[in-house]
Amino acid sequence: MTEAILLVGGRGTRLRPLTVNTPKPMVPAAGVPFLTHQLARARAAGVEHIVLATSYLAEVFEPYFGDGSALGLHIEYVTEEEPLGTGGAIRNVATRLHSGPDEPVLIFNGDILTGLDIQALVATHESTRADVSLHLTRVDDPRAYGLVPTDPSGRVTAFLEKPQTPAEIVTDQINAGAYVFRRSVIDSIPAGRPVSVERETFPELLATGAHLQGMVDSTYWLDLGTPQAFVRGSADLVLGRAPSPAVPGRCGDRLVLPTARVAPDAKLTGGTVVGEGARVGEGARVMGSTILSGAVVEPGAVITDSLVGARARIGERTVLSGTVVGDGAVIGPDNELREGVRVWCEAHIPAGALRFSSDQ
Ligand code: GTP
Repeated sequence: MTEAILLVGGRGTRLRPLTVNTPKPMVPAAGVPFLTHQLARARAAGVEHIVLATSYLAEVFEPYFGDGSALGLHIEYVTEEEPLGTGGAIRNVATRLHSGPDEPVLIFNGDILTGLDIQALVATHESTRADVSLHLTRVDDPRAYGLVPTDPSGRVTAFLEKPQTPAEIVTDQINAGAYVFRRSVIDSIPAGRPVSVERETFPELLATGAHLQGMVDSTYWLDLGTPQAFVRGSADLVLGRAPSPAVPGRCGDRLVLPTARVAPDAKLTGGTVVGEGARVGEGARVMGSTILSGAVVEPGAVITDSLVGARARIGERTVLSGTVVGDGAVIGPDNELREGVRVWCEAHIPAGALRFSSDQ
């Protein structure tokens, strides 16, 4: 049975302030810590043994997932004293692996939501006898990503830095953050120092003639690294557009956790999730958004494509669009916060203090 490593030690800086108190993989998406979806998908693909490579806020993972038996898994935890980067983290957990030198080991970034056929990636790895196999996805605008061109047989030919000019966009394929490594390749990564698998390990393997195989598909794929992407991913899980066996309830327009209270005339649409103990008041409208546990949305508030942190409070008639509100923040009534605003944890914004439009 193939075993897996999950990389969950990053600082998640792009997702702040959500990652001030919570590591990115533990931020709830569709009602459960995002990592739950990845663990459940790995289990559904037949994986039983998973090693979590932790670093930033490492102490919160084990109390939540324990030995993994609730998910039918055997989970182990390895914490880096100093962050070792993606490659260093993989090398650092090698002693916990049971696989023999030629056996495949799955590796997942802890912030990717995807419909990847995990078994197909392992099958590709075995049939091509590759040293490393990578899931690749196609994106409309590859400028923000490192590119991974392949030859007609799918073999990786280069790892290119983010393209600076149109001529440098030689492919629309990017690294999708899921790999199969031959176990012996993991043991060959230098130990005890930071290593980036993307910038160091993969290019070096290619330069020394190793066989790196790409598997391109067109399944659902989203990097949940930014607040906008995280909110989108959570909504897609609720709507059933992104597949996960771990959504706690039926897929549909909304997901209201059992202890939440929603006024009968409040409107929840577009994959909105209302977390445990949260409250949504009369006439409020919440679209494509995530309201985390214990948060309060007061009457008449209008929230679109936004994330409201745990215990935060959104005042009456306040409008949020494309906004992230940190844990415990209080936004007074009659504010208007739009695209890209990040309200820090515990911040207080008085009534009517922030507007985008000139009306009151
Ligand atoms: P940003 O700070 O917003 O870029 O996020 P990040 O820290 O998560 O970095 P990135 O998205 O590049 O990381 C990809 C994956 O590797 C994520 O699942 C991270 O949790 C994980 N990761 C990144 N650096 C480390 C590290 O030093 N140690 C471990 N164990 N995991 C890491």
